[in-house]
Amino acid sequence: MTQHDPTPLAPGDGPAAAASGAAAGRTLHLRAAGVSLVVDVPATSVPVVVHWGADLGDLGERHLADLVTAGRTARANNDLDEPQPVRLLPEGSWGWGGRPGLSGHRAGAAWSTRFVPTAVEVEEGPSGGRLRVDCADEAAALTLGIELELLPSGLLRHRATVTNTGTGVYEVLDLALSLPVPVVATELFDLAGRWAKERVPQRRPLTFGSHVRENRRGRTGPDAPLVLAVGTAGFGFRRGEVWAQHTAFSGNHRSIAERLNSGTTTLSGGELLLPGEVRLAPGEGYASPWVFGAWSDAGLDGIAARFHEHLRARPHHPTSPRPVVVNTWEAVYFDLDLDKLLELARAAAEVGAERYVLDDGWFRHRRSDDAGLGDWYVDEGVWPQGLRPLVDGVRALGLQFGLWVEPEMVNPDSDLARAHPDWILRGGDRLPPESRQQQVLDLGNPDAFAYVLERLDAILSEHEISYLKWDHNRDLVEAGSGPVRAPGVHAQTLAVYRLFDELRRRHPGVEIESCSSGGLRVDLEVLEHTDRVWASDCIDPLERQDIQRWTLQLLPPELIGSHVGASPSHTTHRTSDLSFRAGTALFASFGVETDLTGLSADDREELARWVALYKDVRGLLHTGTLVRADDVDPSFRVHGTVAPDGSDALFAVVQTGTPDGSVPGRVRLPGLLPQAEYEVTAQEPGHDPAVRGGRDLPWLASGVRLTGRALEAAGVAAPAMQPQQLLLLRVRRV
Ligand code: DGJ
Repeated sequence: MTQHDPTPLAPGDGPAAAASGAAAGRTLHLRAAGVSLVVDVPATSVPVVVHWGADLGDLGERHLADLVTAGRTARANNDLDEPQPVRLLPEGSWGWGGRPGLSGHRAGAAWSTRFVPTAVEVEEGPSGGRLRVDCADEAAALTLGIELELLPSGLLRHRATVTNTGTGVYEVLDLALSLPVPVVATELFDLAGRWAKERVPQRRPLTFGSHVRENRRGRTGPDAPLVLAVGTAGFGFRRGEVWAQHTAFSGNHRSIAERLNSGTTTLSGGELLLPGEVRLAPGEGYASPWVFGAWSDAGLDGIAARFHEHLRARPHHPTSPRPVVVNTWEAVYFDLDLDKLLELARAAAEVGAERYVLDDGWFRHRRSDDAGLGDWYVDEGVWPQGLRPLVDGVRALGLQFGLWVEPEMVNPDSDLARAHPDWILRGGDRLPPESRQQQVLDLGNPDAFAYVLERLDAILSEHEISYLKWDHNRDLVEAGSGPVRAPGVHAQTLAVYRLFDELRRRHPGVEIESCSSGGLRVDLEVLEHTDRVWASDCIDPLERQDIQRWTLQLLPPELIGSHVGASPSHTTHRTSDLSFRAGTALFASFGVETDLTGLSADDREELARWVALYKDVRGLLHTGTLVRADDVDPSFRVHGTVAPDGSDALFAVVQTGTPDGSVPGRVRLPGLLPQAEYEVTAQEPGHDPAVRGGRDLPWLASGVRLTGRALEAAGVAAPAMQPQQLLLLRVRRV
């Protein structure tokens, strides 16, 4: 299977009114949400992005032609006689000295291309539009399809398809389109991370050369760049001009910022193909993943807002209130006992939970993480009457029932591995080193795929299950597939997407959570096939403040699972107040993951108050605009959500460390309507009486009325708190 089945364009993504048909030799101007995309489509080469950035207003043909002319660069000494623009698919045959857009060959030939347009299709609407350019290189016997869209949110997305029209095999090594970024971008930002500390920001000057982020894990990874951004000096959450990109793929992938001495900077991304992974037989094609581009002159928050708006406009974006989840993992781990689980369910119902998820350990041979993966039958020893008594008990309490699965994996100690050792991805005769005592099933093998599909389908058909927590707990190592053990990550990734889709087709009401050793499969393509991500195995609120802060760079909070855990935290052993844990989980898709039956009556009561608050504010949090304040004392974080109409907002002032000064001064609350008057009050129960400022701050005791402009420019005095305390502020328009 070499065709990457792309996610079809969702209705509503495209232009409202479309006019089709255009010829090469024209310059196209698409506009949406304050963004202009000007693309020159010459008759003799692949298109050139002339401008991607601020809205240029209404431009006539003459101005567009002049914009193209104005962008032509001077001839440099010792360079090509005729300077060349950056093309969407950069080709070495034009003298491009950076990374070529297409790398491949036909037994050593056809390694350099010169594509020429054969058909151009344009759809322009009041808010964005799309361009499809078909190209051919007859000598190389290849065709190239380029799709470029400006979505109503102002996001761009693009992908390319290369097809072999010749007689022999053409091997694709790399296929990635490039977007040009102006020289004003001098700083680079992206994310790194590790297990339980996913999405750690890193920044550096954008210097000459390539900043290449490569992933060979076979899953998105804890250290995926997520959003690779370049921008003007000092760009922050709310200031600076920023260009960013996201490579939407859950297998091996690349994201690159490349600055050449010719003065050009490009952003590109695509799948990272293993040797021989995509060998196109005559007539076969390969499509790159969707790559998204975002521009904003309002810093990283402006970039996040475009991604959030785009995701929220998808027809399958969850619209029902995101339920309060109770998950059994950190409550009981593998110690599954029906009575205890029902007691936990009753406690969950009492605090107001709405969905109960039975995590790992329910299936055959799974008494620890040593064994059982692949044996997707309810364990008869632990569940003599099957799962029904638990499912029925949970549902009788008014909660939805969810179940954990890890369908892509297999323990060598399982009936499945013993019966089908050939279904395990491996290189040659050797097995990959184990990770968490497990291996990866070869879902490119139709029999293995059919087995997993049948098992999951049966479990979903036999029980009233509303939710699957879909885990994936190891990297793919030497993932050879089929009899010759050919590289199989590409096929595996597409097979998993197909598996999600087929299950959703058969069980349309079931939501799926993308979990992978915590937050290791977080990307926009997996979210085309699932409904939420688990952000991290670490639910220590101090770590979670930052993990969520940066996961929000791509995803809106309703898609990010966040649970209130125990104190001390199971991953860090750090202790924390319940108010800090709950006030942190509040700003995402809220849940609880601790043994509620062991909580004191006071803690259960306090937790119930937090659950009630979440239910009260989730409408605001899950539709509003993310705000993260700049220039905050490093021991503080200030973030919030502002309603789309600016009428309401909830902020968190979070103390993560110890400030150098005795009081941290004022905190600014940005993102409100400048002219509107707001009343700022402490939001219960986030207004922890233990926070000394609650008593000492005059404005907090009485509440204050200020304009949005004053709240952003002057702010309010911060409370004197301790590390790991937070204060919630409700900011309502008067
Ligand atoms: C890793 C997940 O991230 C956890 O939440 C839990 O589901 C375990 N796997 C179960 O094995």
